[in-house]
Amino acid sequence: MRKILFIHGPNLNLLGEREPEIYGHLTLAQLNEQIAAFAQKCQVEPAFFQSNHEGQIIDFMQSHRREALGMVINAGALTHYSYALRDAISAINLPAVEVHLSDIHRREAFRHVSVIREVCLAQISGLGVESYLRGLEVVLGFLGREELQKFLKTAASADDAYRACVKILKRDFPKYNWTGIYLVEGNELVVHNYIGAPTPHTRIPIGQGICGAAVAAEETIIVPDVNADPRYLACSIETKSEIVVPIQGRRIYGEIDIDSHTPGAFHEYDRHWLEGMAKDLAEFLEMNQ
Ligand code: DQA
Repeated sequence: MRKILFIHGPNLNLLGEREPEIYGHLTLAQLNEQIAAFAQKCQVEPAFFQSNHEGQIIDFMQSHRREALGMVINAGALTHYSYALRDAISAINLPAVEVHLSDIHRREAFRHVSVIREVCLAQISGLGVESYLRGLEVVLGFLGREELQKFLKTAASADDAYRACVKILKRDFPKYNWTGIYLVEGNELVVHNYIGAPTPHTRIPIGQGICGAAVAAEETIIVPDVNADPRYLACSIETKSEIVVPIQGRRIYGEIDIDSHTPGAFHEYDRHWLEGMAKDLAEFLEMNQ
């Protein structure tokens, strides 16, 4: 299984009793349990580590640098001043996300500065346990795009390329309940590859529904609550939110469409890796046509 490091810095061993009004009531063991449960759904093996010592954290990162694929790190106060930690993250060259339980930007001024931010893919702060889960998603989004890019180097057909993309997304994101590709054919979108419940909408006129609107507008559309959006073409009562990302190069070839049973499941991070993958697919199509 793919190993991802989850690193907790100084004083996080005291979670549960340490300033619960700021950090919440979960102990570190309980926090790790929730991360482990989520990681399992993403088919990831988490490796946890906590230390109050900068050097031990660096040693842990270095010793796992070859077999781990990425890391999620709450460096505690080291975030704000440890250039040694920053150098270590940069040296081991694994995709890393900086996370914090509290919102560091709404606290004391010294916490607003992060010296590790620049060597991380993202900083996620203020969401409690959810900061770690989203952090893992950002790492997986990065790795998924890398995997797709590698696959595209030798992919035999556009069909294989679409299928690989849909499969990677379905495997890595439990909140993506339906992942599919629609292709532009004339003035319609035709469903091509998908994983999830069969859809009644196999052909959608461009301009109709959220799928059709994204192609007409030539941009990604995120709908946090499909039932509140009059454009939504209902296909399953379970679907609560949706993202549609055009596959766009010199023209629009199609789109990646994802439904979730969770309301508000899609964030700017999802947009980032999905637009990246859509761009890779468009480049592949243009190189191989
Ligand atoms: C923290 C925020 C840091 O400023 C602080 O030093 C911590 C925890 C957080 O998770 O909110 O130890 O990283």
